[in-house]
Amino acid sequence: LDYPALEALAAVADTGSFEIAAARIGVSQPAISQRIRSLEERMGAVLVIRGAPCRVTEEGARLIRHLREVALMEAALSPTNAPPVLRIAVNADSLATWVLPALAEIEGALFDLVIDDQDHSADWLRRGDVVAAITSDPGPVAGCDTVALGRLRYIATASPDFIARHFRKGINSESLRAAPALQFNAKDRLQDAWAAQIAGGPISLRAHRIASTEGFVEATLRGMGWGLNPEVLVRAHLASGALEALGPAPIDVPLHWQSQRRMKAPLGSLGRAVRRAAKGVLLD
Ligand code: ARG
Repeated sequence: LDYPALEALAAVADTGSFEIAAARIGVSQPAISQRIRSLEERMGAVLVIRGAPCRVTEEGARLIRHLREVALMEAALSPTNAPPVLRIAVNADSLATWVLPALAEIEGALFDLVIDDQDHSADWLRRGDVVAAITSDPGPVAGCDTVALGRLRYIATASPDFIARHFRKGINSESLRAAPALQFNAKDRLQDAWAAQIAGGPISLRAHRIASTEGFVEATLRGMGWGLNPEVLVRAHLASGALEALGPAPIDVPLHWQSQRRMKAPLGSLGRAVRRAAKGVLLD
């Protein structure tokens, strides 16, 4: 395989631009175009859809996965080379609550975090786009090892003011249908699950979409809506009275660490660090 050309392809995928890719590798832009064109001719397939930004095709993505794996293996064999890039799928709420202490322990590696819902992060692993994932899927995904990390606890919360305005007559199907909820993004089913529990059946909610864990907490504090927040992030607000729990029933989301078995060497001590960090915050 033509590694300089693969490197050019990966740089274009990463930056979305031939020009920036050229600057990054330290060659001219025509040289980048030339490498990618000849790779496309050899593969007999279009690898990059030229545009602003440029995107790689499925065929191009397959080659880049291969390049990443080779680079990781090489870095594990001779640690003096460039630091390995560990591409890992993490759900936003784990990132905001317990994962970073584990990553901070690891020296000599770069992290490329892909943020996706815990119900979807395993797909990245299945496609071979990441070497490990924090996922609600106990798996194991083919070729992966899996360990249970514990449960992330969510509490349905709202501000006292919001509760006075929307739930004065209690929390039931009617008030839940009328009160604005918060939703992280389209993949976030937590509020629906909680509301269905309370109402005894599915209920259609109207919601603000706020795809930020911290933003979700702040929006709750400001009385924009009710929503499920990680217990560790609202504990102090519940104690101070800035937020109130909407009901006694929490929702616990079980999380797992799944990692590619053949990447054991480059992943090294990360799995252990992840387990330790999870222990401090997640429930058994
Ligand atoms: N699934 C998303 C994540 O952790 C968000 C989950 C919903 N979060 C919330 N606070 N309601 O990446």
